[in-house]
Order: sequence, then structure tokens, then C-alpha cells
Amino acid sequence: MPDPVPAALAGSSVTLRGVRKEFPGGVVAIDPMDLDVAAGEFLAILGPSGCGKSTLLRMISGLERPTAGTVEVHRPSTTGHAGRFDIAYVFQDAHLLPWRTVLSNAAMPLELRGIGRAERQARAADALANVGLGDALARYPNQLSGGMRMRVSLARAMVTDPTLLLLDEPFAALDEITRQRLDEQLRELWQARRMTVIFVTHSTTEAVFLADRAVVMSKRPGRIISDRAVALAPARVGALRGTADFVHETRIVYEALERGEASA
Ligand SMILES: Nc1ncnc2c1ncn2[C@@H]1O[C@H](COP(=O)(O)OP(=O)(O)O)[C@@H](O)[C@H]1O
Ligand SMILES: [Mg+2]
Repeated sequence: MPDPVPAALAGSSVTLRGVRKEFPGGVVAIDPMDLDVAAGEFLAILGPSGCGKSTLLRMISGLERPTAGTVEVHRPSTTGHAGRFDIAYVFQDAHLLPWRTVLSNAAMPLELRGIGRAERQARAADALANVGLGDALARYPNQLSGGMRMRVSLARAMVTDPTLLLLDEPFAALDEITRQRLDEQLRELWQARRMTVIFVTHSTTEAVFLADRAVVMSKRPGRIISDRAVALAPARVGALRGTADFVHETRIVYEALERGEASA
């Protein structure tokens, strides 16, 4: 495991300027958008279905090119990560290979980079232990619950020690209790590693629990209609969800989302 790096320096900052996305056929997914994400920030993005959230993440990851404008992902300035930035992506579907063990699935990104067997197994075992799967290394995906499969997917994303972690509604298909446990684990991972995180979700409570800042988008073409800090202390434990402050923050984000749904 790499040495711990100072908070807010282990992550990539992200800069979007005048980003627009029009698909062939004329669907405008994103109207000109400016967005700055600071190094080590945990940002949640919310918005109505079809407003362009996934398109936005794909452009940040480089999977999709903007029609106009620029997307920049910067290198962190620490010695631990100097000269390197690395983007990991987690989708709603865990996308595990059924014929590979949990350990072998989590080690795949290292295998693709040509890292030797002993090192990749050690690093994958470490990443799996960090999401509570230290006992499940030899299992196969069909022997896991949905929540466990998603934890393997998260471990696989973290195994390269990414400087930017993009998550596209990763826990949306899970039951509420499982989702809450995963949110807690993800927040802990972030507090330990301080990679930059951009998390797309439909859930206002999930956004407020996880993130330090919430951006709400309007209906397509997606524009930012609300962008504010979540006014809660950095330490997030399950009991926070029952507090008046939490309910208050959730309501503010919910009202922005309602305005986004209503916008033309
Ligand atoms: N490859 C594509 N070709 C044409 N239209 C697309 C493509 N990908 C997404 N869209 C359209 O762009 C809009 C935004 O999609 P998406 O980013 O997936 O929204 P969200 O993730 O917010 O639900 C939708 O209207 C969708 O149908
Ligand atoms: Mg989407």
C-alpha cells in the first residue's frame, strides 16, 4: 500500500469549461457547462432521469468527447502520486467476470497493466479487505449477494489507487440497508485515501450522507441549477441520518431537484 498522502492532495482536480454535448440526431445532453472539482473533493451530482449525468461522467472519464468546450483532469501534486493520474469508474452493474474468483476479478486492472501475479494478488486482497471482503477472496460472483458484488466492483476500482473515482448510480439497485452500509464504507475509503470522488445518484439522502458538495442539474439539456456545500461535519456515521441537520440538508437538495424537474 502506498504511503498515506496529505489530505486534498491525493486527488485529481477537474475543470470543465463551456462543455456542451450534442448527440448525432440533435439530442443536446449538456448545455454549456462550467464546473470545477477540487483535489480531494467528494462531489455528488443529482438530476432528473435523462438530464445528462452519465454523459457528463463519460466526458470526464474520456470515454466520450464533448461537442464543444474542454474537460481537464489534473495530476495531483504529491510525491506519492507525482506525474500520475488515474481514473476509475464504477457502474450500477458490477460487471464481474463469472468464471473468475473475487480476488482475480479485483486484480484485473493490475493484470491489464502487466503487474506480476504476487503483487497484484497482494494489492487486490488489500483492496478487498478494505471493503470487508477479506473472507471472500476465493468465491465466485454467483456465490455473492448483490451488495457483495458491488463491493468487489468498488475494490476493483480502488485497486489501482485512483486519483479520481467516478461512480454512476452504483448502489441504486440495492436494498436500502445494503446501500447505507456501502455508503458508509465508501465514505470511510474516501476519508482514508482522499481521492477525488464524483458520485451520481438519484437519492437526496445518499448525496447528503456521502458528499461535501451537491450539484443539482435541470432537465435535459442539463444545466447546473444548484451547487452548494453540504453543511455537515466531515465524520459521517449511520446515526447522522436521524439528525435534524441531516434532514434539513436533504430538504434543501430535494427542493433544488424539484426545481430541476419542473424546469423547461
Ligand atoms: N450515445 C447516445 N446517442 C444519442 N443520445 C444519447 C446517447 N447517450 C445518451 N443520449 C441521450 O442523452 C440524454 C442524456 O443521457 P444520460 O447522460 O444517460 O442521462 P442520465 O444519466 O442523466 O439519465 C438522454 O436523452 C439520452 O437519451
Ligand atoms: Mg445515467
